[in-house]
Amino acid sequence: MKLGRATGVALFAGALLPAQQDFSRSVAMKQLMLDLIHPASNEILLSVNRGGPQNDSEWAGVRRSALTLAESGDLLMLPGRVREQGDWAKNAKMLSEAGMAAYKAAESKDVKALGAVTDAIDAACTGCHKQYRPNVFPRGDGSK
Ligand code: HEC
Repeated sequence: MKLGRATGVALFAGALLPAQQDFSRSVAMKQLMLDLIHPASNEILLSVNRGGPQNDSEWAGVRRSALTLAESGDLLMLPGRVREQGDWAKNAKMLSEAGMAAYKAAESKDVKALGAVTDAIDAACTGCHKQYRPNVFPRGDGSK
């Protein structure tokens, strides 16, 4: 059996985490998207559309959301969540990296750098959804 990269990560994570922790059962993918990932990306995108954070409190909000996205990439790779086929791992990693880049931009209050990251955030969402949300992308080229 050929082990893909995602499988390797899942097996590795599985070896480190106690067997009774099945994350897929505690929080569904849909909740993760609706209540964690989507609000975080939304806050960043809205802020950029309005010309960037306007004060320290808004910068703090963007930092928090950026960190949420950076960590969410790893949450999507936990056993019970990760899909072994297709570009799941690639898009999860892209989300982490884009989130981290947004976090760094927000730390240095760099509106231009923050704006430059939004395409990568969007690409991570769309890339994964094209393959794993067939109800939204019925005939997407990457659909399974
Ligand atoms: C690595 C894969 C992956 C990435 C990256 C990803 N998603 Fe998702 N997303 C999914 C899957 C799978 C579903 C379908 C969940 C279900 O219906 O059970 C989904 C569903 C959703 C939904 C619909 C939830 C519902 O059913 O009402 C929203 C909204 C969403 N994602 C937003 C985002 C946003 C915004 C991003 C990027 C910032 C993102 N997702 C990144 C895999 C991903």
